[in-house]
Amino acid sequence: MRIPSDLVRTIRDSSNLAALTGAGVSQESGLRTFRDKLESSSEAEKPLWAQYKPEDLATPEAFERNPSLVWEFYAMRRLKAGEVRPNPGHIALAEIGQRAPHFTLITQNVDGLHQRAGSTDVIELHGNITRVRCTHGCGVFTEWIDSPGGVPDCPQCGAKLRPDVGRFGELLPHKELEQAVEAARESKVFFSIGTSGLVQPAASLALMAKQAGAVLVEINPEDTPLTPLVDFFLQGKSGEVLPEMVRRVWD
Ligand code: OAD
Repeated sequence: MRIPSDLVRTIRDSSNLAALTGAGVSQESGLRTFRDKLESSSEAEKPLWAQYKPEDLATPEAFERNPSLVWEFYAMRRLKAGEVRPNPGHIALAEIGQRAPHFTLITQNVDGLHQRAGSTDVIELHGNITRVRCTHGCGVFTEWIDSPGGVPDCPQCGAKLRPDVGRFGELLPHKELEQAVEAARESKVFFSIGTSGLVQPAASLALMAKQAGAVLVEINPEDTPLTPLVDFFLQGKSGEVLPEMVRRVWD
């Protein structure tokens, strides 16, 4: 993948960069995306929402109806996330964090791979699959609590615990959303990487950045609803495009 020279210059000249990542960034680590235009051959590679229904697993009502099923789904994904490793895309983003004067990394991913690759201060819009929290609001527990007999209870109040992961129909964490909006508005170059851009409010961050004057860059093997609006569409896998971009801009 050739990175256009005018993009290389723009990134070098920009004091402030921000990126929003989605499930596609972890695809090359072996984690499944949620939706994909490409046909996957095996069940194990299918996007999650082609095999499962989000309304059975990723809503507050689903947890009310069948907490064990929801718990099992996230336990399976947490185990898988723990087994895989950050890929060259995650590592390149961590490198940008070290080399750019100011870089904010915002993610919709809950797998913690950005942090394991060395990124710091990651804004996690949809939570993190390694944490649990009390359904009655006692707080967040940094360690996942395994429960062979079903959903574990809060050690403080006895209510059910839930994975600390965003669900459809819920508001995003206020502080994280505020930080993400500010970073998008202040960025001079905004990258949308490995996301279908279909889930709000994360999908609007790129538009907010553009309205505030940022150059928009999208990295994805497939086009998305954002593609017609971007200044640069780098069509390809993030694990291939990002290392090349880092090499061109900073080496
Ligand atoms: P999606 O699964 O909707 O989109 C993944 C995107 O990654 C698609 O546009 C793919 O074309 C692209 N992609 C696939 N492989 C790639 C690769 N190697 N490099 C770069 N891009 C690649 O994932 P998100 O946009 O993250 O929310 O989904 C947003 C939210 O919807 C998730 O956080 C989750 C989901 O439901 C909740 O669970 C609340």
